[in-house]
Amino acid sequence: MVIYQNISLKPYNTFGIDVNASHFVRVNTVEELQVLCTAFNLSERNKLVFGGGSNLLLTKDFDGMAVKIDLKGIDKIKEDEEHVWIKAMSGEVWHHLVLYSVEHNWGGLENLSLIPGCVGAAPMQNIGAYGVEIKDTFEELFAIEIESGKLVKFTNAECKFGYRESVFKNEEKNKFIIVSVTFKLTKNPKINISYGAIQETLNKKGITQPSIKDVSDAVIEIRKSKLPDPKDLGNSGSFFKNPEIELSLYESLKVNHPTMPGYPVGSNKIKVPAGWLIEQCGFKGKRIGNTGSHKDQALVLVNYGGATGNEIYQLALTIQETVKEKFGIQITPEVNIL
Ligand code: EPU
Repeated sequence: MVIYQNISLKPYNTFGIDVNASHFVRVNTVEELQVLCTAFNLSERNKLVFGGGSNLLLTKDFDGMAVKIDLKGIDKIKEDEEHVWIKAMSGEVWHHLVLYSVEHNWGGLENLSLIPGCVGAAPMQNIGAYGVEIKDTFEELFAIEIESGKLVKFTNAECKFGYRESVFKNEEKNKFIIVSVTFKLTKNPKINISYGAIQETLNKKGITQPSIKDVSDAVIEIRKSKLPDPKDLGNSGSFFKNPEIELSLYESLKVNHPTMPGYPVGSNKIKVPAGWLIEQCGFKGKRIGNTGSHKDQALVLVNYGGATGNEIYQLALTIQETVKEKFGIQITPEVNIL
């Protein structure tokens, strides 16, 4: 394990922001991580732990220990008549795990195809897309407690998953590093095509009895059609969460904005697509300096090349203020801003 000094983090964040970390280390085994936690007193240090760096906006040089998690491996650890339990190490690329499960016709992850990032980051914010969240197939995870270096297990209930939320973003924030995640997948997949766009894509292809490979392919096609590939255009997916507002506010806004989409959550709340709100404020496809809101999905902020993190952050603040002024709705970032 080598600790480097003054390393550019540009290759390690999908926004492609060029800032330096004063210290940088790549971790390849759980034991190395335990040593880093205890012998190097990681809990006392300023630290930035990351896998794919796909949910991160770096606004300044990082004075502390940047820890790139490179733990690899995907294994079937158990099976019965109906299910398989797959354990993936946290440094595995998320989409590789999805492809692996689809190849074996083990159902549950196919709607989550092509989400950027690594396995270890997935439970942090309960990643979700096209009607599915990882909490639906999540069995358990193992994490290192930074202060003690001990390996600790978290069950599904203990993770307290919510919409882009978990215990690791709240009460246990900065206390654990996830090292592996186990999913319970099904041998007799139940297809979930409740999300309109998947159904439309399958219809267009004339597929009436889709396999999970068909669903995965459809999701890949939809994502590619409106979400920019960070390799071509720096971004971190949805920049904001979709806000949940009171039903009464939604109904009063509908009077002046009859096309406003909304999805009920519980009995008294409505989730409104932040992309729609941002588009209505005129930001969609608009370029400001080296940054802007993407032309096909307003919720995605992009780096056209050479943007600083602060430039993107300022745009995010402007968008937040404008949405608040026009609709009285506060939108909050999904991305971690450092
Ligand atoms: N919309 C607009 N203009 C836009 C974008 C969206 O009007 O520029 C409206 C449309 O009415 C559309 C609705 O918003 O029907 C929903 O849009 P979309 O299906 O693209 O989904 P989203 O709510 O914007 C969420 C997730 C995505 C996930 C998709 C698909 C959040 C914050 N984002 O986006 O996740 O892929 O649903 O399930 O919940 C991510 O988290 O990085 C991410 C990409």
